[in-house]
Amino acid sequence: MAGLHRLLALLALALGTVAVSVAEEKAKDADLRRLPCPDPHDISPCVCTADEQHNMDIDCSQVESEDQLARVFSSTIPFPHFHALYIDGNQRLKVLRRGDLGPASFELIHITGGVLEEVQEEALSQSYPTLSHIYIQENNVSRFPFAELPLFTSLVFLQMHTNSLESFPGLDSDTLQQVVLSDNPFGEIPLDGFQRVKNLYSISVSANDVEILLPGKVDVSHNDLA
Ligand SMILES: *[C@@H]1O[C@H](CO)[C@@H](O)[C@H](O)[C@H]1NC(C)=O
Repeated sequence: MAGLHRLLALLALALGTVAVSVAEEKAKDADLRRLPCPDPHDISPCVCTADEQHNMDIDCSQVESEDQLARVFSSTIPFPHFHALYIDGNQRLKVLRRGDLGPASFELIHITGGVLEEVQEEALSQSYPTLSHIYIQENNVSRFPFAELPLFTSLVFLQMHTNSLESFPGLDSDTLQQVVLSDNPFGEIPLDGFQRVKNLYSISVSANDVEILLPGKVDVSHNDLA
């Protein structure tokens, strides 16, 4: 009988140990998921998530103002390099101001379906070397720092369709491969519009009010460069 009791006690001890170590593993996993992200309270209403490789995304779709966005990115951000910034369907943010993203850099910026009118000069300057994809479609953007494009040394994709660009932007980039500018109100494309984007292989400019198609090396009418 004593033997059976001892056996049960050992069994209970073993099970207890297993239960504890599972809980510890879970806590460790949660730590890992949180670890590169800033304290959630500091960045609220933005939400940071990290994958197993510690790539962080931050979703600021719920920000209520430019000032609030600036406060989020002026909080303590231990690891300021993010994979992506998402601000989707936001009906408050009109200007992405210089400095509002603090020290944060991104590979992908996704500000879509909102009321954004302006991206200020140098607003994305922390991401000059890192940004590969810009998605700022379906807003009301009339001002964007296109003159800085050559400084974005990893940029391959620029999507700005359905905005309020009134003139065809100066496109100067060694890296840019695809540009989507459909559904903007610009009325003409300059003859040299594509001369300084030598790696561009696709441009979409459909559904603009382009009345004058100036002859150039690119046939914009079928929207795809060979
Ligand atoms: C778009 O932005 C302009 C300013 O650039 C503003 O006057 C206009 O009201 C905006 N349109 C909408 C639909 O928000």
